[in-house]
Amino acid sequence: MIFYLSGTGNTHWVAEQLAEMTGNRLIDIAKELDGPCRYELQENESVGFCFPIHAWRPPMLMRRFISQLTLVGPNDHKPYCWSVFTMGDSAGLAVDYLQQDLVERQSHCEGDIVGFQAQLVASVAMPNTYVGMPGMDVDAEELAEKKKKAAAKRVPILAERIKNHEQGVDVVRGKFPWFTSKVIGSGFVKGAIDDKAFHVTESCIRCGQCASACPVDNIEFTEGSTPQWKHNGLCMTCFACYHRCPKHAIAYGNRTKNKGQYRFCC
Ligand SMILES: Cc1cc2nc3c(=O)[nH]c(=O)nc-3n(C[C@H](O)[C@H](O)[C@H](O)COP(=O)(O)O)c2cc1C
Ligand code: SF4
Ligand code: SF4
Repeated sequence: MIFYLSGTGNTHWVAEQLAEMTGNRLIDIAKELDGPCRYELQENESVGFCFPIHAWRPPMLMRRFISQLTLVGPNDHKPYCWSVFTMGDSAGLAVDYLQQDLVERQSHCEGDIVGFQAQLVASVAMPNTYVGMPGMDVDAEELAEKKKKAAAKRVPILAERIKNHEQGVDVVRGKFPWFTSKVIGSGFVKGAIDDKAFHVTESCIRCGQCASACPVDNIEFTEGSTPQWKHNGLCMTCFACYHRCPKHAIAYGNRTKNKGQYRFCC
């Protein structure tokens, strides 16, 4: 069973391949948050978590999902648990946050599942998608292609490691991980995950693609009207709406002025 979250498609691509290569079922957690988040594991079924790194941490929606998650398994079944996340270049202390969330949730789990921590954790560098702050932009096309090529080689290797139930941490944390995760990450969570700055410019052709791209159904679109953000409390500033727009008609305050767009395609 693979629980995944993806904004612009990078993680979806990785998770989909891992599901195919390891014979796992794939569950989009963005669609599960309002439900019971209770899943029955089959005999010997493993549990994987795939998500993009947001501000050197797992995204808040993935953390919320884990805090609601209940796994029920056959007696004595201790699942092999793993996580593969995608990022532009560095994950900081994301592994620590993930393990802490899993340990905290473990004590609330039903059934006989114990020892629930990720045994293998790995990162995959993918094109950057964050454009919400000054100086942050998508990667140049050449770099984006280079990352995708390297990822296409890395994912099958990770799939083999998952199939063999390997253990270990194979993650690029980057420079000053404590500072990036705890200081910048904390500031980001407190003040930068906000959908109020999104607005549509006059180039909008009212196609509705932004609404379809939003993983958490936060954009209202009716035929013939311009899209409206619902402010439903689930926006993770993944920028999938912004990147999907064929007319580059979505702006985030004035912070996306002259910035690029990116959307995963193979
Ligand atoms: C809100 C936000 C924060 C991000 N923070 C980081 C980060 O701390 N480190 C990093 O390397 N990449 C960061 N990125 C880049 C993404 O992790 C990366 O592009 C990822 O592959 C996007 O996956 P997706 O297409 O499945 O949404 C961030 C992207 C977003 C949207
Ligand atoms: S509104 Fe845009 S940025 Fe927010 S979750 Fe939806 S697609 Fe992502
Ligand atoms: S994707 Fe762009 S052009 Fe289409 S409705 Fe949304 S803002 Fe308008």
